[in-house]
Amino acid sequence: MGKSSTGKKLKLRGKLVTFEGTEGAGKSTLIRAIAAQLTQEGIPVISTREPGGSPVAEQIRKVILENPMNPWTELFLYEAARAEHLAQTILPALQQGAIVLCDRYTDSTLAYQGTARGLPRAEIRTLNRLATRAISPHLTVWVDIDPAKGLRRAADPNRFEQEGFDFQNQVRKGFAQTAREEPKRWWKIEANSGTPEEMAKRVVAQLRKKKVLP
Ligand code: TYD
Repeated sequence: MGKSSTGKKLKLRGKLVTFEGTEGAGKSTLIRAIAAQLTQEGIPVISTREPGGSPVAEQIRKVILENPMNPWTELFLYEAARAEHLAQTILPALQQGAIVLCDRYTDSTLAYQGTARGLPRAEIRTLNRLATRAISPHLTVWVDIDPAKGLRRAADPNRFEQEGFDFQNQVRKGFAQTAREEPKRWWKIEANSGTPEEMAKRVVAQLRKKKVLP
């Protein structure tokens, strides 16, 4: 799975697990709890996020989150940050055999810039494939929350959170559409359906069931 920058097939021993959801779903707390459980079991794991996850990608993150801009510019910046994050962080970890837990990835672009902002999803899929060298997640955990509850939790709202309820609902529809298009890769867990540790156990069990973990 995946291609090198010259198109050669890449051998990856590790696995990529991504986490998606609208604002305030508690993805980052859940990721911390999963990383702690895997570390305790002696499984090599890294946690990272998008946009960001490498020095240049973190700078692009600032540009995106702090400046209103044309939706196409926004799309290309997310993809640029992703290409850098993949090359600097995700790919080396996968080559070393680690489990990579990534807070948001290509499916956020389909949901936010595609379904919610209205850019064509088919073209976003093409850009996603180029930016990631076709490295797609082994499993995507959708931490689903009613946007009305999620928005209330965001203490320091970024400009996406400020878009409000209708926008978050569109994003949620975007996730649901991708989940329908790729049901094998998606697994949904209700936000706040237990303590972070309990929820992490359920995710780890699912990772085993899907053979993402031995
Ligand atoms: P962040 O503060 O990390 O939000 P969260 O904690 O909810 O993940 O900000 C990232 C924002 O960027 C978030 O509102 C979703 C948005 N986003 C996109 O619009 N497209 C993308 O491709 C990605 C990765 C994120």
